[in-house]
Amino acid sequence: MARDELLRPEADPVEAAEETTLRPKRLAEFVGQPRLKEHLDIMLGAARKRGQAVDHMLFAGPPGLGKTTLAGIVATEMEVACRITSGPALERAGDLAAILTNLDDGDVLFIDEIHRLPRTVEEVLYPAMEDFQLDIVIGKGPSARSIRLDLPRFTLVGATTRSGMIAGPLRDRFGFVTRLDYYEPADLVTIVERAAGILGVSVDPDGAGEIARRSRGTPRVANRLLRRVRDFAEVRADGVITGAVAHEALMLFDVDALGLDKVDRAILDALCRTFAGQPVGLGTLAVSVAEEPDTVEDVYEPFLLKCGLLRRTPRGRVATGAAYAHLGLAVPASAGPNLFDDG
Ligand SMILES: Nc1ncnc2c1ncn2[C@@H]1O[C@H](COP(=O)(O)OP(=O)(O)OP(=O)(O)O)[C@@H](O)[C@H]1O
Ligand SMILES: [Mg+2]
Repeated sequence: MARDELLRPEADPVEAAEETTLRPKRLAEFVGQPRLKEHLDIMLGAARKRGQAVDHMLFAGPPGLGKTTLAGIVATEMEVACRITSGPALERAGDLAAILTNLDDGDVLFIDEIHRLPRTVEEVLYPAMEDFQLDIVIGKGPSARSIRLDLPRFTLVGATTRSGMIAGPLRDRFGFVTRLDYYEPADLVTIVERAAGILGVSVDPDGAGEIARRSRGTPRVANRLLRRVRDFAEVRADGVITGAVAHEALMLFDVDALGLDKVDRAILDALCRTFAGQPVGLGTLAVSVAEEPDTVEDVYEPFLLKCGLLRRTPRGRVATGAAYAHLGLAVPASAGPNLFDDG
């Protein structure tokens, strides 16, 4: 399977079911992100003590880092139901109104990809979040009138891969806004070992380490690589994932030492070779690797930025010296001035 599929939410139903099995249900099972966990623990504990719904929360960050997982955890820990929808699914104000009026007191409403909520729907959300009220207009023309409904006290949990695209007024209505960061290798080792335990896979510490290091700092990728390597270990080895087995399997699956996949490398290759170190606009870069600009910006770029392989400059994207080194290329003279632009 192409490694670039490793980053996206599960399309295969069997794998989707496995992803659900692996998803931590309680805060204590959620690995890493210690500050976030502590903060959440306090918020949830206080809300439980007061017997109230917990404040609205917004989780931002690249795909696969645990935003949906956290929404589920908030509901489980509060012992309430979790209603799930997404920005693009809520096309009209009425779609949101229907969901809001069906909530019970304390329920969690999870809106995934909240940055893609249409403006008209967003405007219904403001009074709902702030005053737990819904204004609906009945009828048309001169006889139209507006009525106001009281809503139950619910908790809105929003998730976005694009915090920059959340309008200020919406962001301000969340009591808790946080950005998930890529995970440390040690946390990813724990995640791999936890998943191996649940799936009944034997993996030794070297094997877990190898998978963790190449997981792009992303739990979803760690879980998925574990499953790929498990298949390999069953067919080509005696089923035990050792460091050597993991290494061999990951080479076969085109995951390199930094965890970069084919698309990551294609992006760097385009910057280093096709455009010879000249700054490149997002649209042009996306076309050259046959991906959507949004996908390049949300899925691939954040990790390349984090690894110091790519930089955004006012004139476009450029590869860094480390990128040339990683691809084993010499830095062309044309790249020189851009490489040391802003440090
Ligand atoms: N902190 C964690 N500890 C253990 N497993 C985790 C953690 N975070 C995420 N996972 C695992 O990674 C998988 C993907 O996480 P999740 O679906 O929550 O990501 P997401 O941020 O919602 O991604 P997307 O932006 O694509 O919707 C989950 O099924 C879960 O098994
Ligand atoms: Mg999600």
